[in-house]
Amino acid sequence: MKRILVTGALGQIGTELVIFLRKLYGENNVIATDIRYDKTNVAVNSGPFEVLDVTDGEKMFQITKRYKVDVVIHLAAMLSAVAEQKPLAAWHLNMNGLMNALETAKELGIQLFTPSSIGAFGSSTPKEQTPQDTIQRPTTMYGINKVAGELLCDYYHMKYGVDTRGVRFPGLISCMAPPGGGTTDYAVEIYYAAIERGRYESFIEKGTYLDMMYMPDALQGVVQLMEADPKKLKHRNAYNIAAMSLEPEVIAAEIRKHIPTFVLDYKVDPARQAIADSWPNAIDDSAAREEWGFHAKYDLENMTSDILEKIRGKVKV
Ligand SMILES: NC(=O)c1ccc[n+]([C@@H]2O[C@H](COP(=O)([O-])OP(=O)(O)OC[C@H]3O[C@@H](n4cnc5c(N)ncnc54)[C@H](O)[C@@H]3O)[C@@H](O)[C@H]2O)c1
Repeated sequence: MKRILVTGALGQIGTELVIFLRKLYGENNVIATDIRYDKTNVAVNSGPFEVLDVTDGEKMFQITKRYKVDVVIHLAAMLSAVAEQKPLAAWHLNMNGLMNALETAKELGIQLFTPSSIGAFGSSTPKEQTPQDTIQRPTTMYGINKVAGELLCDYYHMKYGVDTRGVRFPGLISCMAPPGGGTTDYAVEIYYAAIERGRYESFIEKGTYLDMMYMPDALQGVVQLMEADPKKLKHRNAYNIAAMSLEPEVIAAEIRKHIPTFVLDYKVDPARQAIADSWPNAIDDSAAREEWGFHAKYDLENMTSDILEKIRGKVKV
């Protein structure tokens, strides 16, 4: 990668990815874009930034061309919980945004990274050690968009030779930018609540295991995949990547090692619980490990120590 354009750069992933990429590839070689302009966001004030609505294909093409970009990292999307409330808007943003990114990559002959998700699986998918290639019949609009997106990445690679790459991200835990309305957001909120109030009310039911990953591993994974030898990549839709399978009680027990009085209560949100119930408990990422050397460094223990320290430094208690 030499010159990288990131869409949806002010979101949970983009904010940190832009900073990470600017350190690796140089400030001026990472062009952050988003539909929003927020001058307090570090992705806006640490290098080039353009306002870009990804549903405007012509503008996406022109900005990518003008900056002589060789990689587009397409992150702009509507996440699972919000997409269930606005399925038509989700289809419009998630599908047309991706088509514009694919067309831009095709026309300019450049690489494209776009993330899929554990949301691309459904209730009929094997729940434990979910294989790389398996049944994908999601019951959410978000999941349907992700499966269609994976197939489109395969299609543009096979038909036009576009260098498409992607991962199925688990729920990402981080504390630089807030999460954007996903089903696993509770696993971010719980850490803030532990520091700020010493208690948390989970909208996901006890015992609901889902794959999670600490943001530094996700960022490293994106760079590793994009720098991988194309000859080694057998999957152009998206790779399973995994770090830890967690449920609320397990996170709470780990938090209590730092804050012994922490209290976890439940007020389950049926809509988000239904989404969580349709997703795998733990996915198998052996293809990513074998084909491009993915390896998550963070487990629950070292993630919890790190994130609690970072949040303590951020919030006034
Ligand atoms: N965060 C996670 O846990 C997670 C897990 C799996 C997959 N993903 C995927 O990763 C990608 C990024 O996720 P995120 O968590 O950073 O999302 P987010 O919701 O935090 O950020 C999305 C960003 O896109 C921007 N945006 C919205 N509409 C836009 C438009 N029309 N044009 C341009 N920008 C627009 C928003 O302003 C926001 O800054 C998505 O494809 C998401 O499905 C995320």
